[in-house]
Amino acid sequence: MGIRITPSILNANLAALNAEIARIPSADAVHLDVMDNRFVPNLTFGLPMVQSVRAGTDKMLDVHLMIAEVDRWAPGFAEAGAESVTFHVEASEAPVKLARELRALGARASMGLRPATPIEPYADLLGELDMVLLMTVEPGFGGQSFLDIMLPKIRRTRALLDAKGGDIWLQVDGGISADTIERCAEAGADTFVAGSAVYSAADPDAVVRALKSSAEGVAAGG
Ligand code: DX5
Ligand code: ZN
Repeated sequence: MGIRITPSILNANLAALNAEIARIPSADAVHLDVMDNRFVPNLTFGLPMVQSVRAGTDKMLDVHLMIAEVDRWAPGFAEAGAESVTFHVEASEAPVKLARELRALGARASMGLRPATPIEPYADLLGELDMVLLMTVEPGFGGQSFLDIMLPKIRRTRALLDAKGGDIWLQVDGGISADTIERCAEAGADTFVAGSAVYSAADPDAVVRALKSSAEGVAAGG
């Protein structure tokens, strides 16, 4: 199982995003948190910002849409060249249609779940997806404490993905740090968003490398 670290720039300098991305060469992708003050009580940036970031980096862009009416907006991010687009199932009218649209545009289709949203009702949809994002904090803000109560859901999601077969990534987002990443990897996550843990450090790339080696150690059975 591959391990991927996908740092969130939410706590980086948003006025110099491409420079901030250049500080994490070891990252497998950069995680861009789009918020609309409707789906979550916070506002960040939208499509024009993602387009500008795209123009300035070859890094894989992992766009996390925390927005209402996501069926209408998500395809534009795939058209802008984001390699992965996550929509929240709570905000989507037609998740299967949307996932197919994203894939048709050449992006990886990813479905996000808030902490209180169960995975089981969506078991039959998993084959339409390239990634499932499980929130391990309430979406909206960086720097919150990891919710340990999410570990059983990570385990159950891993079991459903294994039963489905294929290579659907399982991403966790919120409160991931040196203290929590191993628990998540043990539970079956393979793709890790880390925001404040990475960008509050003097050497963000060293944190990315350390997180990766911790998770890989667990995945290797160490
Ligand atoms: C929160 C965002 C996260 C956030 C993670 O709603 O989706 O991606 O930036 O930040 P940390 O790692 O600080 O919890
Ligand atoms: Zn996120």
